[in-house]
Amino acid sequence: MRLRHPPQLLHVLSVAGLLAGAVPVPAQTPVAPPKAAVCAACHGAQGNPVLPLVPALAGQTARYIYLQLRDFQEGRRSNALMSPMAKDLSRDEMRELGAWYAAQKSSPAPFQPDAARARLGKVKADETLCTMCHLGGFAGQNEIPRVAGQPFDYVVKQLRAFKARERTNDAGNMTSVSSTLSDDDILNLAHYIAGL
Ligand code: HEC
Ligand code: HEC
Repeated sequence: MRLRHPPQLLHVLSVAGLLAGAVPVPAQTPVAPPKAAVCAACHGAQGNPVLPLVPALAGQTARYIYLQLRDFQEGRRSNALMSPMAKDLSRDEMRELGAWYAAQKSSPAPFQPDAARARLGKVKADETLCTMCHLGGFAGQNEIPRVAGQPFDYVVKQLRAFKARERTNDAGNMTSVSSTLSDDDILNLAHYIAGL
């Protein structure tokens, strides 16, 4: 049988086809998805919250936001204010919200860290290799959250919750890290991280 196309051309075409399929098409959501109107009450219009125990969503990774919404919906993570908000979201709405918030600019509320505590927090973070997972500056990647600039009280609450195993949706990553932290370490780390 005779080939209609030279084999090299077929090869090029099939590689191009594979690439076209593999390149993720970013969700085009320049305007906020409709469901974000509800979220704004606590997380702020652009995902920069003003309440101390509410986490920032602006600049958070899309993947982490999606996974947390799924965990709240399915009860792996639970919070009296947040759990009801995830209850009726579809998977597509979760992805759309994740993509949109990830594209918003993080602008944390001004925070004055205690300089001595923040210094000790940085030493502890280096020693505990936090940034092996969270990356330098706690910027986050994929399913590992950005923690830089999260409200001080929120960071303290989450680290205490992992340590007490009240929050266990972390596949063991944070519960084991935080088991080595004293409450003083937690406060020092939060001074450091909230000021980043
Ligand atoms: C009534 C207030 C309130 C509303 C409205 C609300 N949230 Fe939340 N949300 C919270 C609180 C409080 C937390 C922190 C829960 C905890 O302490 O574990 C949270 C946590 C989250 C988290 C986890 C973030 C992280 O860093 O771990 C995500 C994602 C999230 N909310 C998304 C949303 C989305 C999307 C909406 C709208 C559909 C929404 N929230 C509406 C209060 C709210
Ligand atoms: C082995 C990897 C790993 C290491 C090391 C690690 N983390 Fe995490 N961290 C994670 C993952 C994964 C999550 C998200 C858990 C989930 O999905 O609920 C997380 C979540 C968190 C959260 C909650 C963020 C939010 O928005 O709710 C804080 C705060 C945090 N980490 C701080 C730290 C600090 C401080 C250290 C060092 C003392 C540290 N992490 C070390 C993997 C890690």
